[in-house]
Amino acid sequence: MIDFHTHILPGIDDGSDSIALSLQMLRALAQQGVDTVVATPHFSALNAAPLDFVAQRNAAFETLPKEAGLPNILLGAEVAYFDSMSHCEDLPALKIGDSDLILVEMPFGMWTDRMIEDICAIPRQQGLMPVLAHVERYARKDQFSRYKGWLEDQALFQCNAQFFLKGLDRRKALRMLSVGDIHFLGSDCHNMAGRAPNIGDALAVIRKKLGEDSITYLNNTMHAFLFGEGV
Ligand SMILES: [Fe+2]
Repeated sequence: MIDFHTHILPGIDDGSDSIALSLQMLRALAQQGVDTVVATPHFSALNAAPLDFVAQRNAAFETLPKEAGLPNILLGAEVAYFDSMSHCEDLPALKIGDSDLILVEMPFGMWTDRMIEDICAIPRQQGLMPVLAHVERYARKDQFSRYKGWLEDQALFQCNAQFFLKGLDRRKALRMLSVGDIHFLGSDCHNMAGRAPNIGDALAVIRKKLGEDSITYLNNTMHAFLFGEGV
């Protein structure tokens, strides 16, 4: 299983603040059946240039000691949406591993037509496929349903494990997964306390409510987009 969204690299954002904590988080994910972790530290164009960020991210990764039994780590970023990002020359530096995927965090306020047109231009301008991070957060504010028609075929959708773990949300999450609206699952883990790795809990809910086929579907979908033919 893949954890597609994590803040597991030490000392680079508001996620893990030490090598010891990163290792604890990685061990927890391994115990939950995760064999591949996508490291997606926050990137903000307001704070750093893409290439400088990538150098810092790679340095943070290099500090992690190799330990048998830990998941493989793919390097990426959670890119906060910025104006005209489809035209940013260095945007490809922020993609995930060798894939054509780029994880984008949309604004929490109102979206505009122009923002969505910009996102939809990323495949054409950059040859990259945007993956919108934790779309359930925007679904609550109705942004996602309003623009979903525009985004389909131009973007993919990631949900957090937490979406599957609470009452009313759970039903919505299971329905979205059933109809193919969720392409990626991530823990969005930041630490071992309030935002701990919880992929295993979400998988248990999916397995119980939808059966093993849904786990296989999710795993195959994530593998195909991450390691397959690409966009
Ligand atoms: Fe995140």
